[in-house]
Parts: sequence; structure tokens; C-alpha cells
Amino acid sequence: MLVNGKAYRTVWFEKDRVRMINQLLLPHKFGIVDLKGVKDVADAIRNMVIRGAPAIGAAGAYGVALAALKGEDVQKAADMLRSTRPTANDLFYGIDYVLDALKGAEAKQSKAIAIKAAEDYANWSARACEDIGHYGASLMGEETNVLTHCNAGWLACVDWGTALAPVYAASRDGKKIFVFVDETRPRLQGAKLTSWELMNEKIPHAVIADNAAGHYMYRKEVSMVIVGADRIASNGDVVNKIGTYEKAVVAKDNAIPFYVAAPSSTVDLSKETGDSVPIEERDESEVLFVGKERVAAPGAKAKNPAFDVTPARLVKGIITENGIVSPLDIRDVFAKE
Ligand code: MRU
Repeated sequence: MLVNGKAYRTVWFEKDRVRMINQLLLPHKFGIVDLKGVKDVADAIRNMVIRGAPAIGAAGAYGVALAALKGEDVQKAADMLRSTRPTANDLFYGIDYVLDALKGAEAKQSKAIAIKAAEDYANWSARACEDIGHYGASLMGEETNVLTHCNAGWLACVDWGTALAPVYAASRDGKKIFVFVDETRPRLQGAKLTSWELMNEKIPHAVIADNAAGHYMYRKEVSMVIVGADRIASNGDVVNKIGTYEKAVVAKDNAIPFYVAAPSSTVDLSKETGDSVPIEERDESEVLFVGKERVAAPGAKAKNPAFDVTPARLVKGIITENGIVSPLDIRDVFAKE
């Protein structure tokens, strides 16, 4: 995607280092971080310098490649990267992609093989998101009001995005798209990142308080909801940013189609239902503070689950790189691959 007229990916490999956009600085500053060691990559994932399922998948793949380049133990590197965040399947998928490529490789070839595998993975992931964009755009009428949650745009991926890829594709096709952007407490990925992306693409939108989504759905001002996913279980349950479940329930009550956009790297057929997916619990300070300011009473405690489960029955379709799939068909469709 373009930033000030220059094409960027969220994460990439350059010479002897992993480079990524520092998402903690957005929307007020655009900066790149250079990571020279696997621990630096792991810290960047854990601290959310990079976040979003496909983006951390690519970061994980590049992290393993970096270890191989430096002649380090790739299994140890993979374990360190895996321990950063527990929910997004893409992280594990990206790491395993590079480890698989290294299986049986001769030592002297392993550096080149690992780097090529990480590049192939990132390219595949970007292409998958672009394809999601075209399939998703086909669901949109000439004038469509989309509601989205969290940031599932290109910053959350290598490029294009998942939930926002259809918005970008439809808008480039000349459709009139308006986006309701849930601010997405506690970390405000919607207000900070999605609105920044949409501003860059000149797509009309409004940031709304999370609590306002129901109001606009009730008033039928929303044509469709599209969100991303961190993991999709075998029965079609979707694990995504905390608050997604509520949006799905309200969409159902108002007969508004609720779509999930995700590449196959997000699907985990080893999990029978969403209930067996580990839900990351983040630090309570994210809830007790807004920015640097503590808003909760002194001494108050908080709970901070980062994701929730949306049951398959609330999801109209899953937009994948291979087309739009009923959540109930996920097991069959992906078992064949
Ligand atoms: O905690 P985050 O910001 O990594 O959570 C991201 C999300 O929940 C996204 O909606 C999800 O990764 C799908 S994005 C392509």
C-alpha cells in the first residue's frame, strides 16, 4: 500500500535484518524499526510494534529466517517466536512454513533456503489478501456502508488486509463505500490504525465509539459487517478481537450480513470449536489507562481478554483467498487442501 506515494509492506527482510512499520507510533508518526536478532523480532510481536494475524505470521517467518542467516538454532528461535502471542494461528503457520522448508536442507544451503521460504510466505500471504479483496468486493453494492472492528487492514497483514481488502478493491472499482470504524478499546486499533489507512486511501469513514455500533445497525445504516479473524476452528467458530462477538449478535438481530475475511493460514482444523483456542489475556493497564492517563479509580482492578469467540451460526460467510465459504463448510473445504 502507498504511504506518501511510496509502496510499503508491513514487514520485510533487508540485507541482514527484519524491518517493519512501527505501529505503536501511528497515526501521528510513520517510522520503520530495524531488528537484527530473533529476540528483537519476538519482542516486537509481543509488544505489538507489529500486530494483526497475517502480519505476525510473516514476522514469525522472517524471524526464523533471521536465525538461520545468523547460524543460530532455528528450533530455539521458533520456540521463542511462538511464545509471544497465543491466539493467532497465522503466527504458528508462518513459523512452521520456514521450518518445513529447512527440513533435510544441507547446512550450507540453509540460509538461502530459509530466506527464500520467508519471502515466499510473505508473497503468498499478500496475494491471498489481494484475492480476498476481490471476492469480498463482489458482495458490495454500488453504495455500501461497511462496519468493521479492530484493524484488519494492510497493517494487520503483509499488504491489502483481510476485512479492509474488499473495501479497497470495491473503492478502486468505483463503488461508493463508507466505513464505520469501531474505535476498538482498549488498544484503539480502529481509531489509530484503520482510520489512518482509510485516510491514506481517501475512503470516507467515521470512527465510532464501540458502544455506537449497535445504534447504527439498529437504524439500518450499516449494509454489512466485515471483520478479520485470528483463528477459525474446524466447526466455523471465529476467534477475533474482543468485541467481535457483540457485533455479530447485534448484526443478527438486525438481519445485517456478518462476514469474516481471512486467509487459509488462519484456519486451524485441529481445534474442534472456538472454545479450545487460547485467548490472550493482556495487561490490565491497557483497560485502566487511556494513553498515559489512568481513568479507573485508584486501586481498581481490570480484566483484559484480547479476543473472543463468535459462534459459526452468527457468521454469514468467510471470505477466503479461494472464494466465499459458509462457516459450516470450513472443515470440508480446508481438509481437502
Ligand atoms: O491484538 P491485535 O491487534 O493483533 O488483533 C488483531 C485482530 O484481532 C484482527 O482483527 C485480526 O488479526 C485479523 S486481521 C487481519
